[in-house]
Amino acid sequence: MKNIVVGVTGGIACYKTIEIVNQLKKDGYNVNVIMTQSAQEFVRPLTFQVMSGNLVVTDMYDPVDHWDTTHIDLGKNADLFVIVPATANIIGKIASGIADDMLSTTVMVATCPIVIAPAMNTAMYENPFVQENIKKLESHGYHVLGTKEGMLACGDLGKGKLLPWEDITNYIKDILEKDDKHLKI
Ligand SMILES: Cc1cc2nc3c(=O)[nH]c(=O)nc-3n(C[C@H](O)[C@H](O)[C@H](O)COP(=O)(O)O)c2cc1C
Repeated sequence: MKNIVVGVTGGIACYKTIEIVNQLKKDGYNVNVIMTQSAQEFVRPLTFQVMSGNLVVTDMYDPVDHWDTTHIDLGKNADLFVIVPATANIIGKIASGIADDMLSTTVMVATCPIVIAPAMNTAMYENPFVQENIKKLESHGYHVLGTKEGMLACGDLGKGKLLPWEDITNYIKDILEKDDKHLKI
């Protein structure tokens, strides 16, 4: 069974990740979810726990006695790592080599294909530093997905909307079917 780690960060699009986790689990993948502190303001870990059938990782310093893995193992054993939705913050942290929470630390360990599905306000998405960070990730082989144009949760119209969850799920499955742990874009 292939292992997928799903990182969830603090954007309003968090609720769409529930469908992705649900579908991947139904399709026979072992799914482990890591939520940032901010993501937990939007969706409760319990929802992802039920959908994935696994405990959700929420804190770097949780006691590990109920785990059969550590953040290192989770990163190492992943066949694919996806961050959805990916905030401007996590994109910036990864691009800068920052590992200050469970998600940013675990993704640093991963050598598998890494998919980043950004979602944010148009001005944030078009911010030159965010765009530079995206290009930096792409230049290192990260699969940074585009965004959809449309009406955002904040009422603005433009780029930055998360791609439809079905498209993200299919993208993930396409990569896994190619069976290349070090696949580049
Ligand atoms: C209601 C609300 C919605 C937000 N939506 C987004 C978003 O879609 N994308 C984004 O990059 N940040 C968004 N933020 C800001 C992030 O939550 C903030 O930058 C946070 O530090 C991200 O932390 P994380 O990357 O560790 O999850 C939102 C904040 C609030 C209060």
